[in-house]
Amino acid sequence: MEIIAPDLNNYLDELLPERPPVMQEMEKLAKDRNFPIIGPQVGRILYQYTKLIGARRIFELGSGFGYSAYWFALALPEDGKVICTEAASNNIDMAEDYLEAAGLLHKVEFKKGDAIKILSQTEGPFDIILNDVDKDDYPRALEVAVPKLRVGGLLITDNALWHGRVVNNPQPDVYTRGVLEYNQLAMSAEDLWTAILPVRDGLAVSLKLDV
Ligand SMILES: C[S@@+](CC[C@H](N)C(=O)[O-])C[C@H]1O[C@@H](n2cnc3c(N)ncnc32)[C@H](O)[C@@H]1O
Repeated sequence: MEIIAPDLNNYLDELLPERPPVMQEMEKLAKDRNFPIIGPQVGRILYQYTKLIGARRIFELGSGFGYSAYWFALALPEDGKVICTEAASNNIDMAEDYLEAAGLLHKVEFKKGDAIKILSQTEGPFDIILNDVDKDDYPRALEVAVPKLRVGGLLITDNALWHGRVVNNPQPDVYTRGVLEYNQLAMSAEDLWTAILPVRDGLAVSLKLDV
């Protein structure tokens, strides 16, 4: 299911300013390999939130070949840092090459392994945590991420509408169930103020409250 009518989505894409050459290369690779990156519409939102809350420390759960980290690194100040996590070494190698070519590698650090376990072992607090791991792990990601966020920080989760599988789905698979449970938890948590933005594949943005 398309979340946004294709004509409107094309219109939104056409409005996007041209991206830097390395970012365009990454977008082409994602398209050629059918690799799920957040894409430029969501990238601009990540950039905007980073600037809005003056983020300096960001943690990514599931970094792929570094596309979302590129947007964060662009928006961070010179002494800011994105800690990236990724299970696949070849993705990390590509990410480091791309971010070096973009002159942003000094703001990015890669850790290989299970993203949620690495977060649980990394000292917080973070200003932003981006959750983009396998969808069955979404509830576990929320449980570990919230205590690592500062009050006023943001937990941002991609694929909150999961290609429309969150509705009219009598037998949701394990991934859809993970997204459904995540959305319920994020919307009902007392210490989070969550809004789900129907952009691209749905973006859940949770502000950590002081409760
Ligand atoms: C959707 S892609 C990430 C895309 C990236 N956030 C972007 O927009 O450029 C998900 C990535 O997370 C990795 N991944 C999924 N679950 C993971 C986990 N539990 N620990 C580490 N990496 C994981 C996958 O290997 C894949 O590269």
